[in-house]
Amino acid sequence: MKIIVTTNHEELSQRAADLVVDAVRAKPNLTLCLATGSTPTRTYELLAAPKNVKSDQFAQVSIIKLDEWGGLAMDDPATCEVYLQQHICQPLGINSERYLAFQSDSPTPEEECLRIQKALEKVDPIDLCILGLGANGHLGFNEPAEWLNPFPHVATLTQSTLQHPMTQQTDVAIPYGLTLGMANILQARQILLLVNGRHKRMLLEKLLASRITTGFPASFLWLHPNVTVICDQEANPGGHVR
Ligand code: GLP
Repeated sequence: MKIIVTTNHEELSQRAADLVVDAVRAKPNLTLCLATGSTPTRTYELLAAPKNVKSDQFAQVSIIKLDEWGGLAMDDPATCEVYLQQHICQPLGINSERYLAFQSDSPTPEEECLRIQKALEKVDPIDLCILGLGANGHLGFNEPAEWLNPFPHVATLTQSTLQHPMTQQTDVAIPYGLTLGMANILQARQILLLVNGRHKRMLLEKLLASRITTGFPASFLWLHPNVTVICDQEANPGGHVR
């Protein structure tokens, strides 16, 4: 696991955006799997900068939505869908042919997960997966549990996850999450985990202890050969960083 410590969230975001741009330069038809949430927002804003948009940098890039709040209309402002459309798909001109995403309002969520798994099986592995670190160590909506699910699934969300700021943007009670599974994430060729803020320091410390447990799903990143963690100084637990 490669760990990059930056001075603040802005520098973290710039490093992450640079890494994505480099990856797209090396492989213009890159497949990116993207988390939502507050951590990567600035990274996405930097990617949507006029110079990238104008140069058609992302003309062949495909996007996969990592997870979604279930039971919400697709245009509910709390959805990951609205977030990704607004921050990535619209500014970068990602059309529906280059976009794979859970339907938040599917009447049959289990079948929706199967649809995503089948679609994933038809395409090349995810090239780069950008993740945030959930308040309880979750990745996507792979919540701490006795066992983890390898594939796309309907997730029972914990209270702490349901308190995520995105959920404050809707009046609808969110009944479940939809998420890629741990195998889907770990099969990505490269993983970028972004961690910022004082409130994430203990979580990062736990991750860097390198004890793999289903009680802390992010710890499974230790099983992957190509993970880069970019954190800011506030999240940096000090002595652990190499
Ligand atoms: C949410 C999302 C994750 C996200 C994480 C961290 O629950 N399901 O995909 O990465 O929490 O969010 P934030 O970056 O806002 O801390």
